[in-house]
Amino acid sequence: MADTVDPHAVPSFALLSGASIPAIGLGTFGSDRFTLEDIANAVGVAIRTGYRLIDCASVYANEHLIGPVIERTLTEMGLPREELFVISKVWNDAHAPEDAIASVKASLSDLKLDYLDALLIHWPFPNTHERFAAPDARNPSSRPYIHAEYMAMYHALEELVDAGLIRHLGVSNMTLPKLRLVLRDARIAPALHEMELHPALQQGELYQFSKDAGMVVIGYSPMGSPRRPDRDRFEGDVADMEHPVVVRIADEVGAHPAEICLKWAAQRGHVAIPFSVKPPQILSNLRSVTERPLSPRQLYDLRSVEANSRLIKGQVFLWEGSGDWIDLWDVDGTIPGWGGYGTTAAE
Ligand SMILES: NC(=O)c1ccc[n+]([C@@H]2O[C@H](COP(=O)([O-])OP(=O)(O)OC[C@H]3O[C@@H](n4cnc5c(N)ncnc54)[C@H](OP(=O)(O)O)[C@@H]3O)[C@@H](O)[C@H]2O)c1
Repeated sequence: MADTVDPHAVPSFALLSGASIPAIGLGTFGSDRFTLEDIANAVGVAIRTGYRLIDCASVYANEHLIGPVIERTLTEMGLPREELFVISKVWNDAHAPEDAIASVKASLSDLKLDYLDALLIHWPFPNTHERFAAPDARNPSSRPYIHAEYMAMYHALEELVDAGLIRHLGVSNMTLPKLRLVLRDARIAPALHEMELHPALQQGELYQFSKDAGMVVIGYSPMGSPRRPDRDRFEGDVADMEHPVVVRIADEVGAHPAEICLKWAAQRGHVAIPFSVKPPQILSNLRSVTERPLSPRQLYDLRSVEANSRLIKGQVFLWEGSGDWIDLWDVDGTIPGWGGYGTTAAE
């Protein structure tokens, strides 16, 4: 069997601008478990295998290694830069407008690119945590979502779209109430929404709202992030690839459960960004969306895997006075303030 996939055989989705984005890309967050060099090398393997979408972020601390790999691989393959769709993200410590601009310029320099295909705001909170943070780690300077501050950053990024440094703006880890405010106040509407999505966390309402608002949805941790950091492991988390319905369908199709999760994503209509540094997985993940689609019955059955099993709960972003990690997700339709639900955020 060939060890490459024709990129033209990979499904894609249309963005509001008319550009298109492949239905699958390589993730580059190593969950604090893989070396930065191994992750950068995986990007080269992926491009050679046929991937044309790479999901990067400044906080993954590896863009300076990924840039030279992208440059070298494109040169060696004779591929124009336009063939790639490269995403980067502004981290939570760069929400001040001038810091957000500096972050994008640093990512461009590290990635050795003149423009980003998309720039996402990684989290709606300006709250950071240490690398390898413990599950109960809290930063005393953390604060709730403050819309005026978020939009000040957003408007600064819109100017980078005007300047041609960013082709598409996107959001990540958003909720319905926050998205409504951003859509109301944005001059350039977000084109992408990256959220956690796997069969055990389907996020139906937010997913449909995002699509109806014209965004392409990107699903992170698409196989249920089996190697996620220890701070993101809790009792009761569902292991998607071990779920009996996923395993049964994998047996029916003759594929690995990972591939079932990726086929589900592409056929449901969102981009998946699986992580791997292993060439056989990098290949089989890409190939999975080009062959042997799931039947309508199998897609229907995968709905039953939904368990509201959020793996990346984000508790390390909580601020003093808030409750537990639920306060980050606006589940009652309001945005909690300094004292949690029912209190108002500072304007
Ligand atoms: N926007 C955000 O806030 C956010 C948050 C989290 C992640 N992300 C993005 O999403 C990407 C992916 O998320 P993730 O790494 O958390 O989860 P994931 O892609 O669901 O899980 C990755 C792990 O799945 C296993 N795997 C991959 N392909 C496989 C295959 N074919 N067969 C069996 N196992 C396979 C690998 O485990 P082994 O190494 O054990 O083989 C790999 O380490 C990240 O790299 C990042 O780019 C974004």
